[in-house]
Amino acid sequence: MNKPRYYFINERKHASLDFATMGFDYLACPWRFEAVFQHGIWRVRGIVEDTTMHLPEGSQCLHYGQELFEGMKVQTGADGKLYAFRPLDNARRLNAGADYLCGPPVPEELFLRGVEEVTQANAPYVPPYGTGASLYVRPFYLGIGDNVGVKPASSYVFRIFVSPVGPYFKGGFGPEKGQKFRVSQYDRAAPHGTGHIKAGGNYACSFFPGRDAKSQGYAEALYLDPQEHKYIDEIGAANFLALKKNTLLTPKSTSVLPSITRRSLMRIASDLFQWPTEERKIALDELDEIDAAACCGTAAVITWIQEIHDSDRKWQFPFDERWKKLYDKLVGIQTATEEDPFSWRYEIKLG
Ligand code: PLP
Ligand code: COI
Repeated sequence: MNKPRYYFINERKHASLDFATMGFDYLACPWRFEAVFQHGIWRVRGIVEDTTMHLPEGSQCLHYGQELFEGMKVQTGADGKLYAFRPLDNARRLNAGADYLCGPPVPEELFLRGVEEVTQANAPYVPPYGTGASLYVRPFYLGIGDNVGVKPASSYVFRIFVSPVGPYFKGGFGPEKGQKFRVSQYDRAAPHGTGHIKAGGNYACSFFPGRDAKSQGYAEALYLDPQEHKYIDEIGAANFLALKKNTLLTPKSTSVLPSITRRSLMRIASDLFQWPTEERKIALDELDEIDAAACCGTAAVITWIQEIHDSDRKWQFPFDERWKKLYDKLVGIQTATEEDPFSWRYEIKLG
């Protein structure tokens, strides 16, 4: 019989934090999970306390960006249970990145074990149901070693930290909070580069365009396809969605991150709502014909795009009730107020 790893003496007690007013900020929780890859073996260090990491100064992650990360949420359901959302998809996306960056995969079982253990260890920090906040789970992967040559590492660290978070964009939760975005003249990824994997370097490259957009009062930069600068790619750390008549559209591009939220929303739209859905190129010019726009991601959930500005053009989109319908269904599935026909909820048992 498997012995439990944690023994909960009382009902889960929440840390005394104001979960309802949190922003999307890092808060150091007591515990993190860690495993180390050396000599062809992943060795589980398990739950560790130190928030700082001791790395060899020659590490590939520090010099050559051999780093990947993931982002997912654990939420308290209406039934009081804790649920992660599609964590296996995050494990698979991380491993697609590991393959591209020429490092070893993290076994899916190890990834899931880490998510479970780090959540269990930090259970008081999972926000209660109804606050809107959630436990953000940040798995990451580092190539390490005593090295100076431009080559993949032979040792790796896989670590997961967690932090309770509130809404990603200022203005609170829910798709009704409209945001303004600025079409960027810069790219976050190369046409046949690393846009499709969650490599840290893609995000360092987005700081400058993001700062440029934010300094002009926009929530984030909207990126066009890096090859022709003609089609919509994605927005900051979120994928793009549009409603054109009765169809839900999303860009087809090799340089956007394949969002798990987007995949889920497209499935909800087609299978549960019977809306036509299409993944295809969306030219910036086609915004003239689009009825509504939104962006989506783990952190952004689904957020209404109220305005998009280009250097000489401006599009305004009204709020569309269908964003709310998608939001409610997605969050309902995640928090167990709705059935889970696709088996997306992943319960993390305490004890
Ligand atoms: N696009 C980028 C660049 C991201 O960083 C993210 C966040 O992970 C997303 C899209 C949304 O992906 P997901 O829904 O899997 O969180
Ligand atoms: C996410 O949506 O999980 C992200 O990773 C976005 C961001 C915080 C990088």
